[in-house]
Amino acid sequence: MNLSKIRRDFPILSRSVRGKPLVYFDNAATSQKPQAVLDALLKYYREHNANVHRGIHTLAEEATDQMQKARSHIASFLRAPDPSTIVFTRNATEAINLVAHSWGKENIRPGDQILLSEMEHHSNLLPWQFLAVEKQAELLFIPMGDDFTLDLEAAQRLLASGRIKLVAVTACSNVLGTLNPVPELVRMAHRAGATILIDGAQWAPHLPTDLQAWDCDFFACSAHKMLGPTGVGILYGRRVLLDRMPPFLGGGGIIREVERTSATFAEVPMKFEAGTPHIAGIIAFDAALDYLESIGMDQIQEHEKSLTAPALKRLREDPEVTLYSPSDPGLQGGVLSFNLRGIHPHDLGTILDSVGVAIRAGHHCSQILMKRLNVSATARASFYLYNTEEELDTFFQGIEKAKRIFSRGRLITH
Ligand SMILES: Cc1ncc(COP(=O)(O)O)c(C=O)c1O
Repeated sequence: MNLSKIRRDFPILSRSVRGKPLVYFDNAATSQKPQAVLDALLKYYREHNANVHRGIHTLAEEATDQMQKARSHIASFLRAPDPSTIVFTRNATEAINLVAHSWGKENIRPGDQILLSEMEHHSNLLPWQFLAVEKQAELLFIPMGDDFTLDLEAAQRLLASGRIKLVAVTACSNVLGTLNPVPELVRMAHRAGATILIDGAQWAPHLPTDLQAWDCDFFACSAHKMLGPTGVGILYGRRVLLDRMPPFLGGGGIIREVERTSATFAEVPMKFEAGTPHIAGIIAFDAALDYLESIGMDQIQEHEKSLTAPALKRLREDPEVTLYSPSDPGLQGGVLSFNLRGIHPHDLGTILDSVGVAIRAGHHCSQILMKRLNVSATARASFYLYNTEEELDTFFQGIEKAKRIFSRGRLITH
């Protein structure tokens, strides 16, 4: 990987923050965008702007063709069987809500169980809480072991109830970076007769995804975490399931024929795409996928490993650090959560910001996990293809600065 060339492709990386070069370690929240994606957004508005599917004029045809090209590209990027299984949403959250509303309404009955895990983002929890209340269903959680990985034996015991209709788990934890064994989870769910949704928001940007090999039933991710614009999400669904599901939102674009009191609906995926989509965003996402593919997902994964390995080593060696990471580095994605003794993560985040380093501090929309870890918050550094080892040094210098400031504070107050 030509890191300096990659970095030049991302205009924001040349800006400074508080007089220091920006070190962006908040990639799990959202990624930065390469010039090619910014160009694609502008090009659409400058040269092709029209609504899709509706016109017979040239611009409308161009916009529609480009959007369909993006759909095919996403299908091939995720190794989905065909483009009709790819539904555009606003984000991963909306994709999961779509399944909860549409599939959930038809398939979940009172007394059924939905199996989640203790490391889910609220986006893969609240939709199921709402559904469980509405349907008088029960939520169960695959426990996390002390090694910050899912306890698969416990999952197996829970699945043995025979009442679990849906398993919904994340492929990669947005807090711990734990990479979950997706193919095994899919096999376990299917053996128990359950449908399985994989939350791929933290996986798809960083590692190769192969939905056909995984054989999951639903998969959700967000473009903005994978170099694309905000406002575009992806739901993959197995075609037979999508075909049987009712529309999620009502509106233009989803119908075949409308009468005064009823309507029939278009084929998938149009059935689920009510209203004008984020056309520019979808087309720019196509450019983001081009960019990712030009580097290669294997290379991106390797590059992130080359940053997480030394970062993990240094954090583990520090007696003042509590690290929330699996002991097997092979199960670690490019997200690291930790706490520094005596320093609130928000304070650490502020001090790191003063040296130009952007990290995340808080509950990371994962309060169940925070409660399981017995903390209210963690500091989280998350890496991507444009981060460097020099940036890691700046990050560790920021940590030392925080320690100095706080030890001085302790001397003054005691
Ligand atoms: C694991 C996981 N799932 C879902 C989401 C929700 O993504 P979005 O806010 O783009 O819908 C996130 C966002 O951080 C996430 O990390």
